[in-house]
Amino acid sequence: MQPIRVTVLISGNGTNLEALLMAIKEKQLPVQVVQVISNRKEAYGLERAKKHRVPCRVMPVDAGENHGTQLLHWLEEASTDLVVLAGYLKKVPQEVLSRYENRVINIHPSLIPAFAGPGWYGMKVHEGVWTRGVKVTGATVHFVNGEMDAGPIILQEALVLEEDDQPADIQQKVLTLEHRLLPQAVAFFAAGRIVVSDGRTIIKSGVDHP
Ligand code: GRF
Repeated sequence: MQPIRVTVLISGNGTNLEALLMAIKEKQLPVQVVQVISNRKEAYGLERAKKHRVPCRVMPVDAGENHGTQLLHWLEEASTDLVVLAGYLKKVPQEVLSRYENRVINIHPSLIPAFAGPGWYGMKVHEGVWTRGVKVTGATVHFVNGEMDAGPIILQEALVLEEDDQPADIQQKVLTLEHRLLPQAVAFFAAGRIVVSDGRTIIKSGVDHP
């Protein structure tokens, strides 16, 4: 089976990128990360990519109107099958979403629709969770559509919080979950097991990677 070709978009630390690269290697997933694109040249995730010998590109998003055209060009040039947003903090241009409908996935550090949508990103999510005093949070992998955190949900996993968890503890615990969930979703995509219908997804049965 030919591996699917994945472009990962990042803005920061890139621990989810690293988890994906490790899972591909360890579980021999039929997936190849063909390039990593960051909107910030200082993003530490670029170092992680280089360590794994993955080609990197930097595309500052205020670089003008062409950014959608440029991004689409890079995606197509690398024959990308799937785009993974792994801590990418910019909006994906509509022309990319149209061309890659149900082929762009994002990981969000809460149980969507809670603590999701405009303004809910990074530590703000975990601070919101702490302030509201919810007892359960988690992570969500979803397809990206034009609306923030609103596309069809692929996978979710919940996490029961401890009384004394602070926002930084919550972030760490959720990240650990994310590092399992994102590679799992990519593996399901690669196996052609995700069916989207009426804004919902169904994961078809099949052989799970251990
Ligand atoms: C993760 O919490 C992810 O859910 C969110 O941004 C964070 C990125 O972390 N979208 P990292 O860069 O993968 O370490």
